[in-house]
Amino acid sequence: MAKTKTTFFCQNCGTQYAKWQGQCSSCRQWNTIVEELIQKTDEKDWRSSENPKKQPVKPLRIQEIDGTAETRLSSGNMEFDRVLGGGLVPGSVTLLGGEPGIGKSTLLLQIALMIPYKTLYVSGEESQKQIKMRADRIHSDSENCYVLTETKTQQIFRHIEKVEPEIVVIDSIQTLQTDFIESSAGSISQIRECTSELIKFAKESNIPVILIGHITKEGNIAGPKILEHMVDTVLQFEGDTNYVYRILRALKNRFGSTAELGIYEMQGSGLREVNNPSEILISKHDDQLSGTAISATLEGMRPLMIEIQALVSTAVYGTPQRSCTGFNIKRLNMLLAVLEKRAGFRLGAKDVFLNITGGITVDDPGIDLAVVAAILSSNEDIAIEKDICFAAEVGLAGEIRPVQRVEQRILEAEKLGFAQIFVSKQNNLPENKGNIRIHRVSRIDEVASLLFG
Ligand code: TYD
Ligand code: MG
Repeated sequence: MAKTKTTFFCQNCGTQYAKWQGQCSSCRQWNTIVEELIQKTDEKDWRSSENPKKQPVKPLRIQEIDGTAETRLSSGNMEFDRVLGGGLVPGSVTLLGGEPGIGKSTLLLQIALMIPYKTLYVSGEESQKQIKMRADRIHSDSENCYVLTETKTQQIFRHIEKVEPEIVVIDSIQTLQTDFIESSAGSISQIRECTSELIKFAKESNIPVILIGHITKEGNIAGPKILEHMVDTVLQFEGDTNYVYRILRALKNRFGSTAELGIYEMQGSGLREVNNPSEILISKHDDQLSGTAISATLEGMRPLMIEIQALVSTAVYGTPQRSCTGFNIKRLNMLLAVLEKRAGFRLGAKDVFLNITGGITVDDPGIDLAVVAAILSSNEDIAIEKDICFAAEVGLAGEIRPVQRVEQRILEAEKLGFAQIFVSKQNNLPENKGNIRIHRVSRIDEVASLLFG
């Protein structure tokens, strides 16, 4: 087969070079020069050239275009479907990114085994036997799941023509290699070429393709940023590997919202869907402990009850320590300053530790009031009653500010059996709603006296 011609381009300024060099002489950036394909041949088509030529597309009036929504392929995994916006769109390309060991292969193998369509799971990382062992571990079996260990895209397309799958999974894009480029697997030009071949295949065959992508130390999907532009949907699987909970979220979605969130629990036998996340994020103590407060927060569109734990103690060393997990340290320092200045609590000489249980990270400002309540509860060493929760932001003047979608948060709190919720006065809510009593407060000191007398 005739080798196609490649050349080198700077990814930053576009200058062309005959061979690779470390620094671009034009824009002076380092490591931006990559090999790219310049001569396209017919062979590059994912089909062999004997196939009848595709009909050329012509411009249509917008009224003439068939607008009926494409039927989506449901994966049978509710959390996964929700994040996609209701299932896989035919012909779409989805990229699933995540740190090593987070469970990307497990999630997609589980879906491949569960989905009621013929699936081809292509792995460039594990042997068929290893995949079978994993399938045994998650106690799943399927007549419709084909497994292939292969890294050459041309071979993969050949197998696809034989197997005729309805869904293709590639684990991972960094291991693939096309014959048209000489550089090694995982290099930027390989990743880009293989992705564009797969996209072309998906669009022409209407078969959805899911790609697994590795993440670099900085948290980006390894490979060119352009990869994220090329695919239709970018999903991220995240979580702390020390904890069992995993969160699936959409960073980009051409066919749905990016606000949805899927939650899983990693068990000995695969990933379990967590349909009611609030229940697991709140620890069930029999006795009340000081320093904990529950917040009604939102993750995307989904209401979520989370538990915040604070520990306030006299600083042993000169400089008091402040540390938090799952919460922004700058915001913690701001809230402590507000407590000191606006409500007269002497916290300047105390160590403050803050923790959001379950290993999740929250950036909803609506958890401010719960953070403040947890800190005060630990400082006073008085427990907050178990049936109380909070949903409000705290401003620099010590005022309690309203949060968005407060009704949804209250509904979730009531569903989980909370009897009282603290919200901002500006939310304009009645005093009671169903079985829940609504405390409308406007200042921190008001909250402190209601809680601790
Ligand atoms: P894996 O899917 O291989 O991660 P990735 O493809 O993202 O690199 O998941 C690996 C981790 O998941 C590994 O540390 C073991 C754990 N695991 C379980 O706890 N239970 C299981 O049933 C499986 C299959 C894996
Ligand atoms: Mg893997």
